[in-house]
Amino acid sequence: MCTQVGIVGAGPAGLFLSLLLQRAGIDCVVLEAKSREYVESRVRAGVLEQGTVDLMADLGVDGRLRRECMLDETLDIRFSGRLIHLDLPALTNGKLVHIYGQQEVVKDLIAARLAAGGTLHFEAEVISIDGLTGDKPTIHFEHDGKDETLACDVIAGCDGFHGVCRPAIPEGVLTVYDREFPFSWLGILSESAPLAEMTYANHDRGFALCSRRSPKVARLYVQCPPGDELDDWPDARIWDELHVRLGDPGRTELQEGRIFQKNIAPVRSFVSAPMQYGRLFLAGDASHIVPPTGAKGLTLAVADVRVLSRALIEFFRAGASARLERYSDTCLRRIWKVVRYSTYMTTLLHRPPEQTAFDRQIQLAELDYILNSRAAQTTIAENYVGLPFEED
Ligand code: APR
Ligand code: PHB
Repeated sequence: MCTQVGIVGAGPAGLFLSLLLQRAGIDCVVLEAKSREYVESRVRAGVLEQGTVDLMADLGVDGRLRRECMLDETLDIRFSGRLIHLDLPALTNGKLVHIYGQQEVVKDLIAARLAAGGTLHFEAEVISIDGLTGDKPTIHFEHDGKDETLACDVIAGCDGFHGVCRPAIPEGVLTVYDREFPFSWLGILSESAPLAEMTYANHDRGFALCSRRSPKVARLYVQCPPGDELDDWPDARIWDELHVRLGDPGRTELQEGRIFQKNIAPVRSFVSAPMQYGRLFLAGDASHIVPPTGAKGLTLAVADVRVLSRALIEFFRAGASARLERYSDTCLRRIWKVVRYSTYMTTLLHRPPEQTAFDRQIQLAELDYILNSRAAQTTIAENYVGLPFEED
């Protein structure tokens, strides 16, 4: 088997890349370790920037999104009984965000890839990749109980944080920048009406967030200690914390409903650089993780593959490799800005376990400053709706 671009992983990065290349007439094969059902039901964030929506429109995969998404024009931050209300269009020249679950995006991309006759193998686990510094790198994978080999011109490592592509880069090549925060996020989906606005809260007991997936489905999060397990969080405890932290101690505002999904995820920032080695190019979570505050993971994956697809199109059409050579530098400029923003929002809104009284006062002063400063509000809003996509 051979192809021009072997894509490892059918998350947002791998799927968007496959559609961009397919449209340009570049042959690619997507290999995904998990089943289609698994990938389509994996619950992740649900905030799409305009750039992601525009790309979906450009690829003709925005039909269901337009019908089902919710437009979100506000972001609220509650703290100490006060409210910072960010009017996104007023602060950003008319911009807003779309609320649409990431797994819905994944479903739409898979359907489009298969409808166009593109090759996408599920339950095809990549075991190793080699020949990265030559001009025919190879992917070894298992599919239908058989060992298979795929010879490629280029490999796109879109296999997420725990994938095999980043570890295939020899030791000493990558610099890793890692910061694990001393807390996790417990997330739930509930059959209940969310609060009217996207609401973040910094409470003495820690962070909470009320987002949504539909007018009848709330997506809610609470900060919890890093070692906690789901058993530590019976439903009643989750609701108790949500009411208190979201400033609803009388339990009159936040509706409760049947909780039908629960997960705990670590909060970390991770960047490994460079994002390329020979003919291997990493994109999305394979190369970087942002803390979830601000919901920027998908945006970064999309930005990477936009840059990569353009560089690959030039490479295959014109034999020009200059854009591919600067792929990593181009992406990292954006990545660090988004890591900065996500880290800022995380630090602003969470209570680390060992927070000193001094640091707590600084945090509250910062929130109070944002409450009364249009400049500070603009900074948060313009990053939240998404920085412009710049390419050299
Ligand atoms: N072989 C084949 N596929 C693999 C392998 C392997 N050895 N290892 C991992 N994969 C697959 C995973 O099963 C997953 O479906 O790679 C895919 C990676 O997808 P994501 O983790 O969704 O990563 P990415 O496409 O970069 O999307 C980033 O996802 O984690 C969120 O917040 C993040 O929104 C961001 C987005
Ligand atoms: C979500 O809807 O899942 C979500 C929203 C905002 C965030 C993170 C996640 O900051």
